[in-house]
Amino acid sequence: MNQSKKSIDWSNLGFSYVETDLRFSARWRDGVWGDGELIPSADMAVHEGSPVLHYAQACFEGLKAQTAPNGDVLLFRPDLNCQRMGRTTERLLMPTVPESLFMRGVESVVRADGAGSPPHGSGASLYIRPFLIGVGENLGLRPAPEYEFRVFVSPVGPYYKGGGLSLINLAVIDLDRAAPKGLGAFKAAANYAGGLLATQMAQSLGAQEALYLDPAEHRFLEEAGSANIVLKMKDGSMVTPESESILPSVTRRSVMTLASDVLGLSVSERPVDFLAEVDDIDEFAACGTAAVISPVGKIRMADHWYHFHGDGEMIGPTTQKLYDLLTEIQRGEREDTFGWTRAV
Ligand code: PLP
Ligand code: COI
Repeated sequence: MNQSKKSIDWSNLGFSYVETDLRFSARWRDGVWGDGELIPSADMAVHEGSPVLHYAQACFEGLKAQTAPNGDVLLFRPDLNCQRMGRTTERLLMPTVPESLFMRGVESVVRADGAGSPPHGSGASLYIRPFLIGVGENLGLRPAPEYEFRVFVSPVGPYYKGGGLSLINLAVIDLDRAAPKGLGAFKAAANYAGGLLATQMAQSLGAQEALYLDPAEHRFLEEAGSANIVLKMKDGSMVTPESESILPSVTRRSVMTLASDVLGLSVSERPVDFLAEVDDIDEFAACGTAAVISPVGKIRMADHWYHFHGDGEMIGPTTQKLYDLLTEIQRGEREDTFGWTRAV
């Protein structure tokens, strides 16, 4: 790592870029993928006409590596990230990154920066960012002539300020993230540029992120700017919003499996009419690779704050249990009966 491992204060890392020694780069030209290689430079030189710069022909993924007690470095369900990138590339008319190339990219960077994987128990993890951009000389609106697939890593701590399992706030603001048949269900870079203003508006209201309602009626829960939503209802069931314009989260899928298969809760994915059902919600949580499971203490909508997790000071017991189960599996502290982790 550029920053010596010894000089990193693991327990105080936030979610910021820390440069590491090597990243993986592969080019797609004339219809074929090159082998790819590890390279030292964090900079990229691209043609000024590159479609990524003008027309946002870009997509990315995010996953984490964690160090287990026995020293193994574990990836969490990387196959699902690869599949999701495949769905996104199809939607953006980009070439598919074959699973062998995706995994080679991810594993070679993690191995190369193995010395940079945060130690077990430090509370930090190695965030992995695979991405694909359309590059090369171009002017009109059409797919790029060439593509670059890159993977870099950065050691990270908690995504939200406050750290670990602290309560966050969300705010419903008057902007939509995605249209029903638009890009919402894909990890397209364009979704995130569109969300910057929404995040800023939510933060000016005292929240960490925006909470989106469905763009057609503004009634049904969608997701937060960088995380899906899971709800523990007062009747004891777990519910997650169904929508065709949210990103299908790897974390959410895992959390819902843990809720049903380990905690024995009844689980469902269905439309959730926020104001009609808000009084039935006991624990509200945001989940994602970066967000892990973040309990939501309160949500602002139309000048009113709605509170969850009791009085909003405590973390609900179900959210706590799900957080423990998920993170223990991810860190290799609990037997991985689902076969979700993969040692690099
Ligand atoms: N929703 C959005 C918009 C995201 O950016 C992310 C982060 O990847 C998620 C949800 C959570 O997805 P995952 O659990 O696969 O990281
Ligand atoms: C992730 O959780 O991996 C994401 O991609 C969210 C990102 C906005 C940091």
